[in-house]
Amino acid sequence: MVPIQARMQKVAAGLVAAAVIALLLDWYSPSGPQQPLPHARSFAPEPAPGAEENNLFWLVQVSDLHISKFRDPGRAPDFEKFCTETIDVIQPALVLVTGDLTDAKTKDNIGSDQVEVEWQTYQTILKRSKVMEKTKWIDIKGNHDAFNIPSLDSVKNYYRKYSAWRKDGSFHYIHHTSFGKYSFICADATLIPGPKRPYNFFGILNASQMEELLSLAAESHDSNHTIWLGHYPTSTIISPSPGIRMVMRSATAYLCGHLHTLGGLMPVLHAQHHHGTLELELGDWKDNRKFRILAFDHDLFSFADLDFETWPVVLVTNPKPLLYSSSAHEPLQRILNSTHIRILAFSPSPIKFVKVSIDGIHLGDALHVSGPLYVLQWSPQSYSQGFHQINVTVQDASDKSTTQLHTFAMEENLSLKFGFFPSWLLLADLYIWARVAFALVVIIQIAFLIIFRYLGRPALKGHPTRAMQASLSLHILSKTNLFYYFFLLLSLYTVLGPWFIGEIIDGHMGACFSFGVIVDGHFFQGSITFLVGILQVMFFNIPLMAYLCWCLFLRCQGNCFGSHLHNVKQYHAVPVHLAMALLFSWQIYSCFFLLQTYGAMAFFLSPLRTWIVGLTLFLVYRSWTMNSSTLKTFIVQIKNNQSS
Ligand SMILES: *[C@@H]1O[C@H](CO)[C@@H](O)[C@H](O)[C@H]1NC(C)=O
Ligand SMILES: *[C@@H]1O[C@H](CO)[C@@H](O)[C@H](O)[C@H]1NC(C)=O
Repeated sequence: MVPIQARMQKVAAGLVAAAVIALLLDWYSPSGPQQPLPHARSFAPEPAPGAEENNLFWLVQVSDLHISKFRDPGRAPDFEKFCTETIDVIQPALVLVTGDLTDAKTKDNIGSDQVEVEWQTYQTILKRSKVMEKTKWIDIKGNHDAFNIPSLDSVKNYYRKYSAWRKDGSFHYIHHTSFGKYSFICADATLIPGPKRPYNFFGILNASQMEELLSLAAESHDSNHTIWLGHYPTSTIISPSPGIRMVMRSATAYLCGHLHTLGGLMPVLHAQHHHGTLELELGDWKDNRKFRILAFDHDLFSFADLDFETWPVVLVTNPKPLLYSSSAHEPLQRILNSTHIRILAFSPSPIKFVKVSIDGIHLGDALHVSGPLYVLQWSPQSYSQGFHQINVTVQDASDKSTTQLHTFAMEENLSLKFGFFPSWLLLADLYIWARVAFALVVIIQIAFLIIFRYLGRPALKGHPTRAMQASLSLHILSKTNLFYYFFLLLSLYTVLGPWFIGEIIDGHMGACFSFGVIVDGHFFQGSITFLVGILQVMFFNIPLMAYLCWCLFLRCQGNCFGSHLHNVKQYHAVPVHLAMALLFSWQIYSCFFLLQTYGAMAFFLSPLRTWIVGLTLFLVYRSWTMNSSTLKTFIVQIKNNQSS
């Protein structure tokens, strides 16, 4: 081939890759003006933020409490302190608890079950702290609160007995104020019946639940703002067309939890839907003691993610951050019409000062109005062009201080982008990505098997290169019936067969497939199952095939199991055996995991877990002992080549 052609092909491939990446980036973190809403609210330029404490309320969100009988004894007492001290200082109009109220795990941290004392602990905290008398407490269910529940009527559905809200399912709550109506819509996507973990990670909404949510959304259209809340980020909800994000597009924000901070990898998980709705995942109470304060000030929405007992708490409500602005949902022109910068500052000790600067220029100390509100007169016209940075430092009498800093802008065509990874994690339909990736890895393995079975034998000449050896070993494996049919069946079985049959819910039989879980006559579409399937193929099915290729190749070179360590360079052979042993022990561990999660029956009736362990040992044994005619012809071929 002419080199220039090759280079052009490379350039073209690069361009295609770049275009795909650009599309992905743009899809998951859109910029520019938002698409208009069908029922856009008519936003009056008034009332605009001024010096009085009016048109203002704030609320608190906390998520993933995981009150546990077995772990972290500080979790519940800290939460009680939160319900007394923190709530007393902040005095929110509402508190939203977005699921996983209890941990519901067994003592070994692997199995799952509803533990009544965990629920009692939660209820005792609510009662002893009298928090439900101080504020409106809305607590919703998470996946942990639905582990191992055969039906909503089951006594194990402790949410009905011990939570504050107590009613299953989605709902619409309206917060009435003298200056408007604020809607809170809960989307309950927890599974009914509720399988034990881990196959209870994604939420599912069926067609009738979507209808219900659509009507709740319609009910809220005359509210000043609508906030949606749920446990699962929208990326972990399976919902029928047009999809959950479309149904909630009139919401200013969707508040959720569930992903914690991804073990610290993603401390901030915020994104924006195409219609402008913010999706705000909140870190967990469980390990990170996170909570969030949110405010509506003259219908401008703002929030801050906070750490328990880190004072003072500061929230700048005007001018709000550009990143979290949506012209489709908020009267943003009120920033330009405002007369005062407005700040909420909270602390158990008196606030000493609230210093404000913009673009590095100190503007003065904000004055206390009442409650937590501090204001400072300003002339927004001076900042009407371009990006500006506001910096607010609050210090309290105990000399603790907090600084909040963000970028604001008033020009309509300016916008900022959210990070790609948080956006992808919140906005990708993860179950579809997992399904596609699973299909790909299975197809790749099957394609290798079939291609090498029917490809003509390679002619050997001289000393074969590594690649030739690898290809030859694939020829040997694919052309040997036992191994060919085994791996073909294993691949097909991974896709089609039940991985195990057992008590998906205590006392209720079910089966787990790659494409979903069946329990008690209910079918739950696959999601996390595809991910487990990918791991199975990538870290067991394919490595086992590669390992057997390697063993068979050594056989054909005239080695036997006893001699190969001497003949092959040891530093070569030992790591290969070790790597396979490691993957094999992971497979054995997953049998144990199955035993702990779904019980003895699942352990014994699991072709893809327990049975495979036995089959693997058998296959490895056969690879060193079998004497098929195919194998013999390869042995002869390699011998002839070596001696020629
Ligand atoms: C809330 O909406 C009502 C009706 O549209 C409006 O009169 C009122 O000013 C709004 N409240 C605020 C704080 O903007
Ligand atoms: C949808 O789910 C709800 C709650 O689990 C259930 O009551 C209802 O029968 C389901 N509807 C359909 C059409 O499957």
